[in-house]
Order: sequence, then structure tokens, then C-alpha cells
Amino acid sequence: MPRVCRVRASGVHPFAERWNHNTHYFPLLASRIPVSTTRLLDVGCGEGTFCRFVADEHRTVVGVDHDPSVLPASTTSVRYVLGSAETLPFADGSFDAVTMTMVLHHVDPGRALAEAARVLAPGGILLTLGYGRFGGWRDLAHEVRDVVTHRVLSRRMRAWEAPTAKADPSATWEEVRAMAEATLPSSTYRRLPMWRYLVEWHQPSGEDS
Ligand SMILES: C[S@@+](CC[C@H](N)C(=O)[O-])C[C@H]1O[C@@H](n2cnc3c(N)ncnc32)[C@H](O)[C@@H]1O
Repeated sequence: MPRVCRVRASGVHPFAERWNHNTHYFPLLASRIPVSTTRLLDVGCGEGTFCRFVADEHRTVVGVDHDPSVLPASTTSVRYVLGSAETLPFADGSFDAVTMTMVLHHVDPGRALAEAARVLAPGGILLTLGYGRFGGWRDLAHEVRDVVTHRVLSRRMRAWEAPTAKADPSATWEEVRAMAEATLPSSTYRRLPMWRYLVEWHQPSGEDS
């Protein structure tokens, strides 16, 4: 059963005690991962919070990060691997789902997306949560929504800062959208409240024409 169902059942955000603008969206990301997914890769996994959240007895979860100082030791439910998003140490088509949270602005985004697509099996799903730079008046309405949403939601949550590398994005929201569309033409781009976007892409299955 997707974890998002448990969230709705209890009414409490599962990261209410460890909340930030990334963990806020972990239930949404998890809800987009098909229940049938048995092999999941989280690129730029950091200290592995998302890997642990989506791990269960039916799936193999692998987290990859290039920073050995943040990678936890592997467990029976998650294998952590040292490696680069631009040259993933996995064979073509190894995973049914690939996720990336707040990683694209740290890496060469075109290469990282192409690598993620390479390791996805036919029919697999790629989910990328990230953020962009303020690009001027076009982003103003979103900026207002982001500030208001943060003020309202953060009151009920305990803020948590992950011990991972931070960086400011060099690309604007619009530049990220255009880059994702150019690299993965059938992808969808959604701007989410609180300074995040979600790019979703499906590897064509052998049956797609
Ligand atoms: C902002 S943190 C996000 C961590 C985690 N995904 C999360 O949501 O909590 C960015 C992560 O990307 C990793 N990273 C940066 N460049 C990378 C690269 N070229 N290959 C793999 N990981 C990279 C960093 O080490 C860091 O853990």
C-alpha cells in the first residue's frame, strides 16, 4: 500500500517532527511511485531519509551519493553506494523508479537526467524534486504563494535541517522547466508551493509507439 494512504489515515504529516521543504514532499513523491516498484534508486540520497521512508520488504532500495561523509552504512532494507549522479555505477535498465531530491542544481543537470533515464527499465518512472532561482516578475505570484504556504504550514511543524551539502540554484524556474523538457521531451513539470518543482518522466515501455 502506498505510504500516502497511511498519512491520510492519521492526519499527521509523517515528517511533522523532521520537517523542511523537502521532507514535506516525501509523501507526495512516495505516492507517485507505483506499488509494483521493486527496484528503486535515490540519486543524491544524502543521509538516506527518503530511502528509509520508501523502503519495504517488497522492494530493493539503493541510495547513491558522491559524499562519503553523509552516506550511512547499508542495512537490510537500503543499500548505500558511493557514486556520481553524472556517471551512475549501475547497468542500463537496473531500476523501476529513480528519485532525486534537491540534487539537480548541484550537478550537470542534463547529464544527471540522462543517466537517470539510462538506468531506468522500460516503463520506469523518474521523479525529480528541486528548486530554481527567482526569475523576475513571472515568478512573483508563485513567490507570494510560497511565502504564505510556508508561514501557515511551518507553524505546525518542527523544523529540521538535513546535514547535507546545500547550494543555491543557478538556473531560474523557467530555465529548469525548459531544460527538463529538452532532455526528457515527454516529461511533466509542476511548480509546487514552498519553492519546489516536480519533474516526472516515464521511460517508454517496449509497447509504446
Ligand atoms: C541538498 S542535498 C539533498 C539530499 C537528499 N536528497 C535530501 O533530499 O535530503 C544534495 C545531495 O546531493 C549530493 N550530490 C551533490 N553532487 C552530487 C553528484 N555529482 N553525485 C551524487 N550526489 C551528489 C550531495 O552530497 C547531497 O547529499
